[in-house]
Order: sequence, then C-alpha cells, then structure tokens
Amino acid sequence: MGKTYKIGVLPGDGVGPEIIREGMKVVAAVSKKAGFKYETVEYDFGGDRYLKTGEILPDSAIEEMKKLDTIYLGSVGHPDVKTGVLEKGLLLKLRFALDQYINLRPVILYPGVPTPIKDKGPEDIDFVVVRENTEGLYLGVGGILKKDTPDEVAVQEMVNTRKGVERCIRYAFELTGKRKKKMKLTLCDKANVLTYAHDLWQRAFYQIAKDYPGIEADHAFVDATCMWMVKNPEWFDVIVTCNMFGDIITDLGAMVQGGMGVAAGGNINPEGVSMFEPIHGSAPKYTGKNVINPIATIAAGGMMLDTLGEKKAAEMIDKAIREALTCGKIKSLAAGKMGLSTSEVGDLVVSLI
Ligand code: IPM
Ligand code: MN
Repeated sequence: MGKTYKIGVLPGDGVGPEIIREGMKVVAAVSKKAGFKYETVEYDFGGDRYLKTGEILPDSAIEEMKKLDTIYLGSVGHPDVKTGVLEKGLLLKLRFALDQYINLRPVILYPGVPTPIKDKGPEDIDFVVVRENTEGLYLGVGGILKKDTPDEVAVQEMVNTRKGVERCIRYAFELTGKRKKKMKLTLCDKANVLTYAHDLWQRAFYQIAKDYPGIEADHAFVDATCMWMVKNPEWFDVIVTCNMFGDIITDLGAMVQGGMGVAAGGNINPEGVSMFEPIHGSAPKYTGKNVINPIATIAAGGMMLDTLGEKKAAEMIDKAIREALTCGKIKSLAAGKMGLSTSEVGDLVVSLI
C-alpha cells in the first residue's frame, strides 16, 4: 500500500475554486486506480479573505505548509485588490518562502488542439521552459525617490546569485538528460545588453555544460527566442531562463500550445514542498459561471503527482487529457466556448481514467 500524501489545497481567487474542484475530482479518481492515498488541508487565502481580515499569508501558515507533501493552487488575483498586493504577498511569498526555485512550464501541443502557428503540429511543439523562480527582477529590490514629482526616480534591480543561477541551470541539464528527446538545452538570456547579470548566466551555463557532454549547450537571446518559438518551435527541447523572461516567454508558449486553457506549471523545490498551478490568472469575469476550461489545472495536478513519484497516476491523467481533447466533445478550449461546462469537462476526464 502506498503512502498517504498531505496535499495543501489553495483554490485562491476568481475561477480558482471552480478549476481546483475539477482538478481534485481527477486526483480522487486516479488515486483509486493507481492505489495511493491522500488527505487535503484546505487554505482560504486570497483576495476575499484579505478584504475581510487584512491578512494575506501569515508566517504561521508557511511554517505549516512546510510539513505538506505538495500544494495545489488555483489562481491568485482579485479585481478589488490593488495590483501587486496578492501577487507579492501570496504567490511570490509562497514561491520564495518555500524556496521553489524552479518554475517548470511544459509547452506541449496536445493532439486535437489547434495552434495559431501555421503548418505546425504536436510533433513540432513539445518543449519545456525551466524558469528561475526565486530571483531576478522579482525580488523587489529597489525603490522610488521623489514620488509623483518631475524628478521621480524608480529603480528595480535584477538580482542574480551564483548559487541561484547554478542550481537552476543544473536542474535544466538534468531534466534534458531525463527527457531523452533532442538532448539540447537552450539558454535564453540578454547577455548582449545585461552584461553583468546575464554574463553570470553565460559563464555558469557553459561551465556546468562541461559536466553534461551528451547534451548540446545551445543559446538564444530572449528576443530571438520569441521569434524561434513561433517560426521553428521544433528546434527547442528544454529552455532555461531567468524569472522575468521565463514569465514572458511562457505566455507566448501557452499561445503556441493552443491557449491558456491547457498551459500548466509547477513551482518546484526539488528538496522541499512544491506547488502546482495553471499558468493563467483568476479570470474574474468568468467567476462562478462554470465556463472556464479546467484542463490546465488538471494537467497541473498530473505534474503534481508525477513530482510526488506517482508516475502511473500522472500518465493516466495525461492519457485522459489527450483522449478528452480528441474525442470531439470539447468544441473549443476558450472559456464559454467549450460546448461543455467546467464541471462537465472535469467529468469527461474522470470518465476516461
Ligand atoms: C505567473 C504570473 C505571476 C508571475 C504573477 C501573477 C505574479 O504571471 O505565474 O506567470 O509573474 O510569476
Ligand atoms: Mn505570467
């Protein structure tokens, strides 16, 4: 008998509760088939709780979360809360406090899903972005002087540590080796302009590459990466990049793979507690309407189980998603246009498990 996993469930704001409900439905179905047990610890952190109590994420909750096996997150962002408050106070605080230094974002075009890229199919679009997740421009180092005057100065610094960069690059090389696909790792940076910050990335990358002679150490500047992702996505296997660029290119990646409705990601601490989420936001205008696509969240649930070591369960979810997307019942991946409700898509995936 397998072990009992402790899963922290954080539905969050907007459509978060609706998509997490479907994700947990699939986890429940697959646990019976794959033979693992779990218990959940539900957290109501998010915009509504903040507006009611002023509390975003107390340190005591973080201490408690360190004892979980994993976290399943819906979405963060509330229309009545000032931009940046929940993003920094909840999502980034979790990523930083739990030292989830990898943001793993697969860009997979599932069969049956239309991509806006002409003449490209599932065999061309299958790569992974390894985004550094605890440093860079996201640390919030900087400040504003002489605010709201003509002399105002705003500085936001890009912080890169040797340790942070190295552990991320090493993770990406290991992943490239495990994938056994093109055996190619592309460093995406802007070393031609960021001659301090990304010089460090380059030196670390080519030095670590020496430990992986079987893997091609490839390079593309971030602007060119965007171009190639659209023009020749089949060139990529694994891309490793800094926090900010990873954020940007994975939204492009989500479009390349058919839309936000299918793009999943994991905030990973290989030695600690990881957290899985769809990469889309809280979509306030669809809240409570049961029309949002839960596939991205369900796929994130698959990544969660894979990371826990439940390979069979993860494969079952992947297979069920692929069948759901090709069976003809889902008319479109876009919210409100699926031809099925959020819960019906969840039921469909469950029925295919
Ligand atoms: C993401 C999101 C977040 C980020 C925001 C909500 C802070 O865009 O997960 O990609 O920038 O990392
Ligand atoms: Mn983003």
